[in-house]
Amino acid sequence: MKIHQLVCLSLFGIMIHSCAYNNEADLYPSNNDTLDTSKTFTYSGDVVPILNRECTSCHNQNNISGGIQLDNYDDVKFFANNGRLLGSIEWSSGFSPMPKGGPKMPANDITRIKKWIEGGALNN
Ligand code: HEC
Repeated sequence: MKIHQLVCLSLFGIMIHSCAYNNEADLYPSNNDTLDTSKTFTYSGDVVPILNRECTSCHNQNNISGGIQLDNYDDVKFFANNGRLLGSIEWSSGFSPMPKGGPKMPANDITRIKKWIEGGALNN
């Protein structure tokens, strides 16, 4: 392969890469931004989208992994208040690391759930 073909290929690779990156940023804007931790974090706006993306496939009423359901406020509040929700997503010792079999969640998402719990784990 000639050198200019290689250069073309790598430029193309970079373009594809930036595309994928932009799409991800559009889907999950909070993950790459600096998080304003002084705002009010809500169940509906912050917590539910994260749980639906990372957790409810294994923790819903038809698939209650570990006896834990995370697809409704009352159950989520219960595990928020007993520390298991945060312990599992922070990968704290003594808890099963979640999401099971996957990478640790983005730091901003963990912070959003943590701040919501600190705010009283309200149904907001
Ligand atoms: C691929 C399936 C799967 C996914 C995705 C998943 N879990 Fe789990 N989870 C399990 C299974 C199975 C158990 C029970 C066995 C164990 O603890 O490892 C469990 C256990 C738990 C426990 C109890 C752990 C403990 O030590 O008390 C919590 C809390 C939990 N999950 C929360 C979550 C949260 C929050 C997410 C999303 C960030 C999540 N899970 C994603 C399968 C999953």
